[in-house]
Amino acid sequence: MSLRGFKRRHLLTLLDYSSEEVLRILRVSRELKDLYYSGVRTLDILKGRTLMLIFEKPSTRTRVSLEIAALELGMNVIYSNPNELQLGRGEPIKDTIRVLSRYVDAVAARVFKHESLEEMARYGSVPIINALSDRYHPLQALADALTIWEFKERVRGIKLAFLGDGNCNVARSLIVIGSKLGWEVRIVGPRKYWPDQKLIEDVQSDLRRSGGNIVLTEDVEHGVKNVDVVYTDVWVSMGFEAEAEERIRELRRYQVNMEIMRLAGPDAVFMHCLPAKRGQEVTEDVLESERSVVWEQAENRLHTAKAVLSLLLS
Ligand code: CP
Ligand code: NVA
Repeated sequence: MSLRGFKRRHLLTLLDYSSEEVLRILRVSRELKDLYYSGVRTLDILKGRTLMLIFEKPSTRTRVSLEIAALELGMNVIYSNPNELQLGRGEPIKDTIRVLSRYVDAVAARVFKHESLEEMARYGSVPIINALSDRYHPLQALADALTIWEFKERVRGIKLAFLGDGNCNVARSLIVIGSKLGWEVRIVGPRKYWPDQKLIEDVQSDLRRSGGNIVLTEDVEHGVKNVDVVYTDVWVSMGFEAEAEERIRELRRYQVNMEIMRLAGPDAVFMHCLPAKRGQEVTEDVLESERSVVWEQAENRLHTAKAVLSLLLS
């Protein structure tokens, strides 16, 4: 496995990575996964380095996959929520990150405002990794692409329908990775929840290069017809709890249920970043069906996290 020559930098959004770099992360993920299943779980690739995790919001998959990935690569891990740091008492992010950069080798942060990550990236001298912000969730998109590659036996030219909140971090990151890999990403939901125009502009040059495209539609039947993947995420993302009632009302028509899977066609798999709200964005029977690949998708968070750390830090 070659880890050399990958440009060391932050990972706030995959917009900053080329298609070749995204593919390289995915290839290394596959190699690390093969090693894992051949019994090689621990490697010395990053022995003695330290990863710091700072999470402003709860997390199961991101936190644990990053911690295990780091440990299996030989790293030490420190986890903290901001309230246990002086950040909670008002020490500026720019001061905190300059100090932490002198102690640790990388910081993964989950934040309410993407601008907090941008400030960390501006002042930090070690790689800052986005562990979810209000705008992007790049680690999730990488695991999603790996899962699609495994189930569809190709990673380019995928047709994916995302139902629900098309401007949430997960949908936006699928748009970004899809634009690198030549996917047709269909955002299916009320116009009010379509991704903002700035994002659509940001991905235009990648779409032209890769041959991908973005479809925005309110029409469920048209949106899901003949896709490879039906994807959804919660209607009320962390930080949007004040809008819960109106979101649940406005997005109700876009629930992924068996009828949607039937409209999508027999080859479509169901994906969800998890955690899922059964009975809202997805029904229990779809989530638990043969067509649901959510557990493999969650597992792939580990293998892709390992690839990201290995490539950015070795
Ligand atoms: N999918 C995801 O990021 O899950 P967590 O919130 O549990 O990390
Ligand atoms: N869009 C969701 C993703 C959770 C992993 C949220 O931000 O809460």
